[in-house]
Amino acid sequence: MIKRNKTTIVGSGNVGATAAHWALTQNLGDVVLIDIVEGVPQGKGLDLFEATPISKTDCKVIGTNDYKDTKDSDVVVITAGSPRKPGMSRDDLLNINTKIVAAVTEQVVRHSPEAILIVVSNPLDAMTYVAKKVSGFPKERVLGMAGVLDTARFRSFIAEATQTSVVDVSTLVLGGHGDEMVPLVRLTTVGGIPLTELLPQKKIDELVDRARKGGIEIVNFLKTGSAFYAPGAAVIEMVASILKDQKRILPCAAYLEGEYGYEGIYLGVPVKLGCKGIEKIIELKLTSEEKKALDQSARAVQDLIKHIKLPS
Ligand code: NAI
Ligand code: 2OP
Repeated sequence: MIKRNKTTIVGSGNVGATAAHWALTQNLGDVVLIDIVEGVPQGKGLDLFEATPISKTDCKVIGTNDYKDTKDSDVVVITAGSPRKPGMSRDDLLNINTKIVAAVTEQVVRHSPEAILIVVSNPLDAMTYVAKKVSGFPKERVLGMAGVLDTARFRSFIAEATQTSVVDVSTLVLGGHGDEMVPLVRLTTVGGIPLTELLPQKKIDELVDRARKGGIEIVNFLKTGSAFYAPGAAVIEMVASILKDQKRILPCAAYLEGEYGYEGIYLGVPVKLGCKGIEKIIELKLTSEEKKALDQSARAVQDLIKHIKLPS
């Protein structure tokens, strides 16, 4: 019997439900939405399933609070988490989300020991580290989503500024998912033409700055939450590359063991993503300025990881 692909999305909030929507419109197989809150995943799952006759995609979508329903998932996307509330320090959020991501990961691995885990919860690089440590999975099967989103933001700003199609803009954002991320202007092209030939340096600098602050720009509009349409689309681009064994080269948070000179941390780097998860980490030759910027980003991630208290 041919088995349909199965993707579990943990957390049926804004990012989780939007990711489920993108998955079913792309016909990526069955989707299980799971959340700690009763009723919400069931309601959103049913609503999404009722959309499939219109999207003309044979995907079964269910919502649940029971991890038994997630059994033997091929990919598990973790979006569960608490947002930062007023008065809460970065460390407070780190501790709260560490507990959530650790608890979720334990349940996930019990029911899907062969799954590939993609973490979305923030702080992204630190939470992916937590999922790796708790799952005990090999590094190929635990990765984080940030670079695809940050790169998509940069691409959309460049297309707008150059009045060209987003499709023709190619670029890469490295580093952690924070203000220190490293958009690589040197490798940015529009239809093969270097961006530096199309825009003045001052304008490029503005676009880099906007990409770095892309998350907060949305938060400032929404006030009560953060972005979810582009994040949902970004994580499903990664899921598709895995389930269809596309072997896309995408920037993902990957566990580094010496690559780029870093040891034992998650950081956004270009990887080949296929049915085995991360099939290759691509090491670019960076200029000294780029490496300095990446070092700064890595230090910020290292600092967060240092403060993680894993539940015993
Ligand atoms: P949200 O608040 O809408 O949804 C979070 C969901 O997690 C809620 O439904 C909540 O009930 C659920 N949850 C909490 N504890 C749980 C547990 N123990 N088990 C199962 N579910 C649990 O938040 P949103 O907007 O969906 O964001 C989710 C996370 O993704 C946040 O940490 C956010 O900062 C992060 N994020 C990361 C991005 C990235 O680029 N990596 C982009 C956008 C968001
Ligand atoms: C973002 O970049 C909040 O990490 C989230 O939109």
